[in-house]
Amino acid sequence: MTACERAGLWLLHRFDPETAHRLSLRALRAGLVPLPGAPGGARLRTRLAGLDLPNPVGLAAGYDKNAEAVTALTRAGFGFVEVGAATPLPQPGNPRPRLFRLTEDRAVINRFGFNNDGAEAIAARLARARRHVPVGLNLGANKTSADRAADFAKVLAVCGPHVDFATVNVSSPNTENLRALQGRAALAALLAGVIATRDGLARPIPVFLKIAPDLEEAELAELAEVALTSGIDAVIATNTTTARDGLASRHAGEAGGLSGAPLFDRSTRVLARFHRLTGGRLPLVGTGGIASAEDAREKMLAGASAVQLYSAMVYQGPSLAARIARDLDRLAAREGIANVSEWIGEGRERWLTS
Ligand code: FNR
Repeated sequence: MTACERAGLWLLHRFDPETAHRLSLRALRAGLVPLPGAPGGARLRTRLAGLDLPNPVGLAAGYDKNAEAVTALTRAGFGFVEVGAATPLPQPGNPRPRLFRLTEDRAVINRFGFNNDGAEAIAARLARARRHVPVGLNLGANKTSADRAADFAKVLAVCGPHVDFATVNVSSPNTENLRALQGRAALAALLAGVIATRDGLARPIPVFLKIAPDLEEAELAELAEVALTSGIDAVIATNTTTARDGLASRHAGEAGGLSGAPLFDRSTRVLARFHRLTGGRLPLVGTGGIASAEDAREKMLAGASAVQLYSAMVYQGPSLAARIARDLDRLAAREGIANVSEWIGEGRERWLTS
């Protein structure tokens, strides 16, 4: 981290977390943040569900919910960027405060509840953005929708022409009963609607499914079966957790989804289990608690083809992605491998027995 970035982060952390978040997006848009572009090269180049990524380090959903800083974010170092969640209609989300920094734990708790400007406004911004790396949109459902399952396809129909992939997010803990859509029958029906909409786009794009880290083995097995038969292209493991183990911060008791360092082991275990359940037949994106190249490599060893991060950026700044990508390249060179894909699944067994 540069001295300038350290000072910027110190300043941001004087504000309440939601204001700091808004200011960081504004700084990105205003060009106040270094935008080195995505590190690439033969060792880092990654193919994910048909997408060509310069490196496997992605931005997780929820940072740029309204697609306000897409052009800048796609030059910040990430190999791919996911924006959203977008719902069909605009909605305000839960009352503030709804975002908490757990500094001692290197973690975040959020209970935003899909606050966003709605699919039309987000589609207009996506249409204007320049995409320097692949961009995906996280799809969500309106809280008061009469047919939540149909909402995902609605957002895809409006925004699909302006993105490179879309993610069905039925794993956010912040919309009551949303996670019930992860059950076998409900999910199969929901995904059938989304896939039909995707197939109707002039330029069909890959569809990802994002899963929760709090599922039992039997639930995971069901999900894996649906994932393999539904026609989706990749799975993101995982979203935030409702668990609260071993936290030190005074905000530990806040309701919502926990992300950052304390999520790493839990989400990596789910990733490894999902890799075994799907026999490596579906590409997986490892998300949850990544703060270094070693963490990213560990996700790939557990079964991930690519990774995403968000919370560690709160503590290490926006240059983190480029740093991790460059360090991954060095790790791969030191190990003498030709491409990071050689790591995929090679350390899975350790995570299955831990
Ligand atoms: C999120 N996350 C999230 N996920 C999603 O699928 N849709 C969303 O709208 C959001 N919103 C959101 C807001 C905030 C403030 C945070 C911290 C997180 C979850 C995120 O994409 C990711 O899955 C987890 O945060 C785990 O990764 P990290 O943060 O531990 O790297």
